[in-house]
Amino acid sequence: MARVELHNIVKSYGDQRVVNGIDLVIEEGQFVVLLGPSGCGKTTTLRMIAGLEQITDGEMYFDGRLMNHEAPERRGVGMVFQNYALYPHMTVADNLSFGLESQRRRGSRRKARAQERARVLQVARLLEIDHVLDHRPKELSGGQRQRAALGRALVREPDVFLLDEPLSNLDANLREKMRMELSRLHDEMPVTTVYVTHDQGEALTLADQLVVMHEGKICQAGQPGEVYSAPGTTFVAGFLGSPGMNLWELPGAPSSDAGASRGVHLSGEARGEHVPGEGPVVVGVRPEHLKLVAEGEHCPARVDCRVDVVENLGSHVLVHAKIQSSKQASLVAKLETSAGLRRGDRVAFGAQAEHVHLFDARTGQRLGHRLARERTSVGV
Ligand SMILES: Nc1ncnc2c1ncn2[C@@H]1O[C@H](COP(=O)(O)OP(=O)(O)OP(=O)(O)O)[C@@H](O)[C@H]1O
Ligand SMILES: [Mg+2]
Repeated sequence: MARVELHNIVKSYGDQRVVNGIDLVIEEGQFVVLLGPSGCGKTTTLRMIAGLEQITDGEMYFDGRLMNHEAPERRGVGMVFQNYALYPHMTVADNLSFGLESQRRRGSRRKARAQERARVLQVARLLEIDHVLDHRPKELSGGQRQRAALGRALVREPDVFLLDEPLSNLDANLREKMRMELSRLHDEMPVTTVYVTHDQGEALTLADQLVVMHEGKICQAGQPGEVYSAPGTTFVAGFLGSPGMNLWELPGAPSSDAGASRGVHLSGEARGEHVPGEGPVVVGVRPEHLKLVAEGEHCPARVDCRVDVVENLGSHVLVHAKIQSSKQASLVAKLETSAGLRRGDRVAFGAQAEHVHLFDARTGQRLGHRLARERTSVGV
C-alpha cells in the first residue's frame, strides 16, 4: 500500500491545459473517488498516476518517492478501465494470472507457481468467481466478467489500485450489487484506491475522500457527507444530489424585501450573519429540504411559486414549480407524496434556516458564517 501525493499537477496537450494544478493527498489504504462532469480531467489524472501520461508540471510522490519519470510497470499500480478487456480465448484463471510469470523469480519456479495459484484462488474467492475459474469470458455474466477484470488487477497485489468507471457497462441492478461488493472488497483488502466515476451514488457510498472536479481543477475534497451538506461552491451544490440543489440568485442583499421581489423570502434567521448590502448572493436549498408551507405559516425561508410538473417516482415525488414574479427561476422539491398538487396550483415551499446555503453570486464561493463576519468587520 502506498500514500500518494499530487503537488500542483498540470497536464497540457499543446496549449490546452486539461488538468490545471491539482493538489491531493491520498492516505495509505484510503478510497478516493474523483467525481465530475465529462471532460473535467478525471481519466487524465488517473492515467498520470498510472504513468500512462507524462506529467506536464508538478510533482507526484508514492510514499515520498518522486514518481514523475518512473515507468508504469515499476509503480506498483493495478488499473481497471471502463472497457476492461479479458483475453477471450483464455479461462478466467489464466486471465487472472496472465503476466504474473514475468514476476516469478528464477530458480524457484515450482514454488512460485504454487503461490501464484493460491493467490488467484484467494482473489477469486473474495470476488466470488472461484466456481467459474475454468470458464472463458463469453461464458460469464456481465458482473462476473467485471469481477474477473478486477481480480486480474488485484492478483498483482498493487500498492495503488486505479479504477476508471469500472461499472459503467453494467445495468442498474448489477451496478448496485457490484458497488456493494467493491465496498466489501475494500474493507477486506484495503488497498489505496483511486476510483473515477460520474455516478454520484457510487461516489457518495464508496468514498472515504470525495474529490469533486470541474474544468481540470479540484473544486472541493472531503468526506462525502461533508461535501454534500456543506458544498463549497455553487458548482458543487448543483452537481451533487439528484436533483441538485436549487440555486436562486438574489440581487443585492438577501433581505426579505429584496428577496420578495423575486418570490424568495429569507428571514434574518435564514440569512445568518450575512449582512444586507454585501452584493448579490445565491441562495441554495436542497430539494429534499423543501416542505409545503401553509398560508400565513412562518418559515425562515419561503418561496412562492406555481406548480408546473408533478413527477411521481414511486419512492418519492418531484414537484417542479415556477417561482412567482420571475420568468426564469424555478424550483424542484422532493416530497414523500404529491399532496394532491396539480399543475397551476399556487403554493409556497419553505425550508428551515439550517438548510439554507448562501453563496457569493460573483465568485460562486460559499458564504460561511465566519466569512460573513470577516466581511462585515472590514466593512465591505
Ligand atoms: N490525448 C489527448 N489529446 C488532446 N486532448 C485530450 C487528450 N486526452 C484527453 N484530452 C482532453 O482532456 C480533457 C479531459 O479529458 P478526460 O478524459 O480526462 O476527461 P474525463 O473527466 O475522464 O471525462 P469522461 O467523464 O467523459 O470520461 C478533455 O477535454 C479531452 O478532450
Ligand atoms: Mg474519463
